Amino acid sequence: MKKLIHLLLVLTLFQFTCSTEKTNNQQAAIDTRVNALIKQMTLDEKIGQLIQKNGAAGMDSLVRAGALSSVLNEIDVLAQNQLQRVAMEESRLGIPLIFARDVIHGFNTVLPIPLGQAATWNPDLVKEGAAMSATEARSSGIRWTFSPMIDVTRDPRWGRIAEGYGEDPVLTSAMGVATIKGYQGEELSGKNSMLACAKHFAAYGAAEAGRDYHTVAVPENELRDVYLPPFKAAVEAEAGTFMAAFNEINGIPATGNKFLLSKVLRDEWNFKGFVVSDWESVRQLVVHGYAHDNKDAAYKSFTAGCDMEMASTCYETYLKEMVNSGVVGEELINEAVRDILTIKFKMGLFENPYTNPDDYPAVLNDEHKQLSRNIARESLVLLKNESAVLPLKKDNIRKVAVIGPLADAPHDQLGTWIFDGNKANSTTPLQAIQDYCGKDKVIYAPGMDISRTMNRTGFAKAIDAAKQSDVVLLFIGEESILSGESHCRADISLPGLQEELITEIAKTGKPIVAVVMAGRPLTFEESAKELDAILYAWHPGTMAGPAVADVLFGQESPSGKLPVTFPRTVGQIPIYYAQKNSGKPASDETWERMYEIPPEAFQLSVGNTNHYIDYGFKPWFPFGYGLSYTSFEYSNQKVEKAVYNLGDTIKFSVTVVNTGKTDAKEVVQLYVRDLVGSRTRPVKQLEDFKKVFIAAGDSAEVDFSVPTNSLGFHDQEMNYVTESGDFLAGIGSNSDLELNIQFTIK
Ligand code: BGC
Repeated sequence: MKKLIHLLLVLTLFQFTCSTEKTNNQQAAIDTRVNALIKQMTLDEKIGQLIQKNGAAGMDSLVRAGALSSVLNEIDVLAQNQLQRVAMEESRLGIPLIFARDVIHGFNTVLPIPLGQAATWNPDLVKEGAAMSATEARSSGIRWTFSPMIDVTRDPRWGRIAEGYGEDPVLTSAMGVATIKGYQGEELSGKNSMLACAKHFAAYGAAEAGRDYHTVAVPENELRDVYLPPFKAAVEAEAGTFMAAFNEINGIPATGNKFLLSKVLRDEWNFKGFVVSDWESVRQLVVHGYAHDNKDAAYKSFTAGCDMEMASTCYETYLKEMVNSGVVGEELINEAVRDILTIKFKMGLFENPYTNPDDYPAVLNDEHKQLSRNIARESLVLLKNESAVLPLKKDNIRKVAVIGPLADAPHDQLGTWIFDGNKANSTTPLQAIQDYCGKDKVIYAPGMDISRTMNRTGFAKAIDAAKQSDVVLLFIGEESILSGESHCRADISLPGLQEELITEIAKTGKPIVAVVMAGRPLTFEESAKELDAILYAWHPGTMAGPAVADVLFGQESPSGKLPVTFPRTVGQIPIYYAQKNSGKPASDETWERMYEIPPEAFQLSVGNTNHYIDYGFKPWFPFGYGLSYTSFEYSNQKVEKAVYNLGDTIKFSVTVVNTGKTDAKEVVQLYVRDLVGSRTRPVKQLEDFKKVFIAAGDSAEVDFSVPTNSLGFHDQEMNYVTESGDFLAGIGSNSDLELNIQFTIK
């Protein structure tokens, strides 16, 4: 046996050495080609490699002159190939272009919005979705996407919360890495591979008051502990490109931020790809009041480490002049060009510059749609299920009322950022429910045509439909344009007259199952009391209907968990689970005492703790929350040893039993607290999670291996340290759990 293990080890080592050697050889070959090319390039041609423009039309002469590196938003393959031919055959050095596009959550087959994908807590599935998106995009000649967006955010007012993976660095990192690997495949040169772009670097999700593009003021340690880890993980996953963010951070706009783009990204993390600006974010340095004019903007952005300019024209107008006058060293230009050309070689663009759509499977094929349906299904979060109204038993249903503005909204179910999604390909919940139950059983009366409407003329029909039915399926939420870039909301309650619609339908006394489609957490705690079940569906994409119906009718148990805390009211924002304790933490005891005393005595007797006198201190639903059709019992939570040394790997384990009657998946979550630090530590932090399938009546032993190194944080001097001391851990089904496992790091 020992011999066998030894042999296996030797073999593994051999394979590892061979593959490292292969990578090194490939890299050396690319370096040689890049250096040879740079030697031949004029300064104009070099600067040309730093330019990205919108659309292929009218670009021929620029490309012929070698003055353009990348084109975004051209999806006509013929136009791409024609322009690429100019680059390859008519430009002096034949350097290919990269065609780029925002492929954010699917291409023609639209997947759930990224926030919904995060709610699956299933990185493997998310990776498959990204790989599918890449294949579809490649069939339209797209070889570079501006995704994933890995901006941690704790503010659901921010419209772009829809585009990211929520509030937690560990979950965001896992989803970001899965997405990057899905897009880029084994090798960037793969036939189905698409170059990824980690964006927006950095802290874009921390915009003050949830207003897009707004000021970001984050202390450096928090930046490093909360907002940067997903980006560091992206570098480790070899994301080929990064995008500099629109926002300023502590007074310096990200696109001109040397600390971020050079010190952190290049010097500390050793990033080898290239950085692209956001749309006109170089020029915007002037608007920020950080550069005097476009020339100054080009200087500040380029010397900070932003290699390629998207859309604005500061680099092409001023870089040459600045090199010639010695203000910018040509070596700096060479470095940026080197990084861009290296990626172009790695992508195999020189060998395979053109696209033949026939080389690819049809978009929107059954397999792609099935994958989209699977991801959507796992993204659904069951928030409430009183008297087990769900799953519905279709044979027991005589009539079902389908009501609400999002029941049959083929465009809105796709969500934000769907350049290439088309509502004509959507299957809506109404269609899917009709398929499940038979058309004759379904009474459809939307009540409202869109979520924002203030028109109640449809109410009467909807109420009537409810009266005739055994159960009401109410599709409420936000239409897609209420989230996304620059679509922030100060009030995140249900828009329009939807709360009134709920009240009116509730008066019929029929059980109401609400399916909520939205790009963010919405606040409707009061109205929710009138609902029997709530299934939170985000914007589920092309296959929203079948996915939602699968879960409503019990084909599959819901297994999604919240990737972000749901506030009770907007005034609680920012509210997130990984908060600090403060010196006067609120507790159930202090808060509940408020209700034991008469209002007039209130002010005097209530404990001075960090709660709101009107809304307490708890969220509506905690991070990680989500119900199932079955029940899971957690026991035996333990750590292998009581004391570990720095550098050890800590082993945790738990037994999870499916005590119900339904087979289901559960997301087992591990949280840790460092009790005392040289800086105060959050009351708990997600360390790891595993999604496991457990058949009814079965149990699973789930274990976690956590290196002590991952329990660290940035100290006063910004060193990443794991400090010795006492820790607590908890393993459970959401973040509102007791930390009852003790261990010490020596
Ligand atoms: C967005 C980016 C996007 C770019 C190109 C910008 O407005 O902030 O996320 O990639 O446009 O479409």
